[in-house]
Amino acid sequence: MAKAMTKTAKRDDAGRILPGSQPWLHQESIEIQKFGHVRQFPIGLSQDARLYACQRLNQLLCDIRILHSLYKKHHWLMRGATFYQLHLLFDKHAGELDPMIDEVAERVQTLGGVAVGDPRHVAEITRIPRPPDGCEEVPAMLSRLLEAHEAILIDAHDAAAKLAEMGDDGSNDLIVSTIIRTNELQAWFLVEHLVDTPLVRA
Ligand SMILES: [Fe+2]
Repeated sequence: MAKAMTKTAKRDDAGRILPGSQPWLHQESIEIQKFGHVRQFPIGLSQDARLYACQRLNQLLCDIRILHSLYKKHHWLMRGATFYQLHLLFDKHAGELDPMIDEVAERVQTLGGVAVGDPRHVAEITRIPRPPDGCEEVPAMLSRLLEAHEAILIDAHDAAAKLAEMGDDGSNDLIVSTIIRTNELQAWFLVEHLVDTPLVRA
């Protein structure tokens, strides 16, 4: 709706708005699709299957977005002897999660749903525990990230199996090929930093 502009737009004798170069500012709208609803899309999947997939994918989307934010937080707050490698590694992992976030959100859209967009909405849905606002010790940062990976992986395995049963091969493929494989690999790179191995003398 363009309340502000319609009041001031110039019209011809028939009431048609005359062309001009004034942008239509301060526009507002009702919600044209509510969150949690799916549209009818002709992609060979039932309404129930698409609705269920959107719920599972939005949960994963929120948890992966929080994991991404945890990586950036710990990338910034890193300190100590392993500062350089972990500062770089955490940013690399965050960078790998970026396209995953986009793919999951766009899968929700592809199924006719509404992807969670606003970070405050993400915070309401995620199950990943909130870290302290301050700085933890490095092993605790690593543990926190590992626990977030595992929570995502447990949910992803369950979602992938159920979505395959419902015939949603596309969502199953995205979860298995992208979410599970990447999270497993990133968890490996983290967990090896928690092995207490001598640095100089064996
Ligand atoms: Fe940076």
